[in-house]
Amino acid sequence: MTKPFNKLETITRIRNLLTVRILHNQVRDQNIILEKKVQERTIELEESRLEIIHRLGRAAEYKDNETGAHIVRISKMSSLLGRLAGMTNERAELLLNTSPMHDIGKIGVPDSILLKSGKLNAEEWKTMESHTIIGANLLAGHSSELIKSAQEIALTHHEKWDGSGYPMGKKGKDIPFEGRIVGIVDVFDALTSRRPYKDPYPIDKTLSIIREERGRHFDPDLTDLFIKKIDDYVAIKNTFSTRKDIASQDFKLSERDQWVPLNI
Ligand SMILES: [Fe+2]
Ligand SMILES: [Fe+2]
Repeated sequence: MTKPFNKLETITRIRNLLTVRILHNQVRDQNIILEKKVQERTIELEESRLEIIHRLGRAAEYKDNETGAHIVRISKMSSLLGRLAGMTNERAELLLNTSPMHDIGKIGVPDSILLKSGKLNAEEWKTMESHTIIGANLLAGHSSELIKSAQEIALTHHEKWDGSGYPMGKKGKDIPFEGRIVGIVDVFDALTSRRPYKDPYPIDKTLSIIREERGRHFDPDLTDLFIKKIDDYVAIKNTFSTRKDIASQDFKLSERDQWVPLNI
């Protein structure tokens, strides 16, 4: 504006500038509100996706004599071992959410095999082993990191370090890290839990089995990390132990003191 100021022009200019400023602020505020809404929706979506994932995991456990406590323990134990093994918080959190689905494929295994109290015959074992492939198929074809990781775990949690596991007989570090982690905590949890074919094993017996399987079933480094922090795993086991308790007299336990293949 040029001097001397014209009163009318000055007022008009000021009014115009203030209007522009007010409109600008309104747009900015609206953007903030919109961004907040998008964030809220994203969190909501993520939460419901996780919720569905957890419930899918529970669906498999319902078929398998559990009440959901097993998958909670596996979730906590896996992410703890992951962190001990140097995972970033982000990756450990992903594992916290994906590990509950490791046995989702059990939905496709008949109850007569899942709940059998005696030993499985060769054909029944094949069917039992197929839960890895069924689980991977159920989770296949999605691009999200979460589902892809869950699929990998479902497929590989029964592979063994020495290559004698299933379904692919992968060996050593060819077995995905997450699969190796869930493999070890799943066995620990199965050994210390009641199963249709066995009583819970005490911790010392469980530990000696895990030690024996170091470098055979389990990744040696992960085994060492696991054993070092055994008290933490026992604490998780005890904290999340609520399940429909099954009376031991309901089962024939003639082989309870032997190492038996685990129907897990
Ligand atoms: Fe399991
Ligand atoms: Fe399994």
